[in-house]
Amino acid sequence: MTQTITVIRGDGIGPEIMDATLHVLDAMQLGLQYEEADAGLAALEKHGELLPQATMDSIRKNRVALKSPLTTPVGEGFSSINVELRKRFDLYANVRPAKSFPNTKSRFPSGVDLITVRENTEGAYIGEGQMVSEDGATATLTQKITRKGSERIVRYAFDLARKTGRKKVTVVHKANILKSTSGLFLKVAREVAAQYPEIQCNEMIVDNTCMQLVMRPEQFDIIVTTNLFGDIISDLCAGLVGGLGLAPGANIGTDAAIFEAVHGSAPDIAGKGIANPCALLLGAAQMLDHLGLPEKATRLRDAIVATLEAKDSLTPDLGGEGNTMSFAKAIASRV
Ligand code: NAI
Ligand code: MG
Repeated sequence: MTQTITVIRGDGIGPEIMDATLHVLDAMQLGLQYEEADAGLAALEKHGELLPQATMDSIRKNRVALKSPLTTPVGEGFSSINVELRKRFDLYANVRPAKSFPNTKSRFPSGVDLITVRENTEGAYIGEGQMVSEDGATATLTQKITRKGSERIVRYAFDLARKTGRKKVTVVHKANILKSTSGLFLKVAREVAAQYPEIQCNEMIVDNTCMQLVMRPEQFDIIVTTNLFGDIISDLCAGLVGGLGLAPGANIGTDAAIFEAVHGSAPDIAGKGIANPCALLLGAAQMLDHLGLPEKATRLRDAIVATLEAKDSLTPDLGGEGNTMSFAKAIASRV
């Protein structure tokens, strides 16, 4: 198989963790071809724009991109380049797994294995109706939820459960208060759930969900929810299992998919060679699943777990004395 993927090295620690990730992927001999494209600050400096057309064309052509974090300069056109990318390619599903790993500084070193499926294009993030009154006393914002948007994200969550053998989907909402928007989401979710009788479905109000996640995270399997709730809940879940260095995310649409780490460009440690490459590596594992290579994805995840278990060359955020590349080499030796 020859598959070309778009590779965006990104800003800050981006190039360092991408080098490490590609080193491991190369060791797996997957026959992947990389097409490099620029975005973010790196693109602004080289091409005078944050999101060059050539980058858009590359993602459109290859349909799969592996992306390091991008810095959105304050005061430039977009509110966020990442939000802009999701919008332009209609990447409606944000899929964020959170799993316990050994030897992390986590409150749950075992027992957590859940996936947050976050709607990525609607809700409070549509950017419409943002207004502050002239006297600065009142601010408003429009939220929009559609039947189509709700249907496709809930269907994505149930299909994911089917495909991965997961047993339960929890629909997270606030329909008791947000009767129109969250109400529509919940109504559509119930309709979709009825078409998947073999998968258990329960409903949970978002504030209770946060408490339940902290008290008994093992009760969750797949969570599906709207944009803002998913943003917050997925960070909470990343925190449960040991933080940002281990949290990947996939942005999936019908015509393209972008795989990344949840964390940002970490300017405080950029250039020091000590960033943890695992989040991007786990994003790459999601990409391998997406490319129809689930056994390779499992091999990659197993190699990461084995390296953590052996405490071999771990980066300082995990309490180790290794660096980005020595950690990657330790993982590569186990794939
Ligand atoms: P951040 O995630 O870059 O950093 C937060 C803290 O976590 C820092 O102390 C950092 O050193 C640490 N950290 C993050 N990743 C790490 C890793 N792999 N290994 C070890 N430590 C790690 O968040 P921050 O500082 O709020 O954002 C910095 C920039 O990143 C901003 O310009 C923001 O817009 C951008 N950003 C981009 C994202 C993306 O491209 N998907 C996501 C989040 C933020
Ligand atoms: Mg977020």
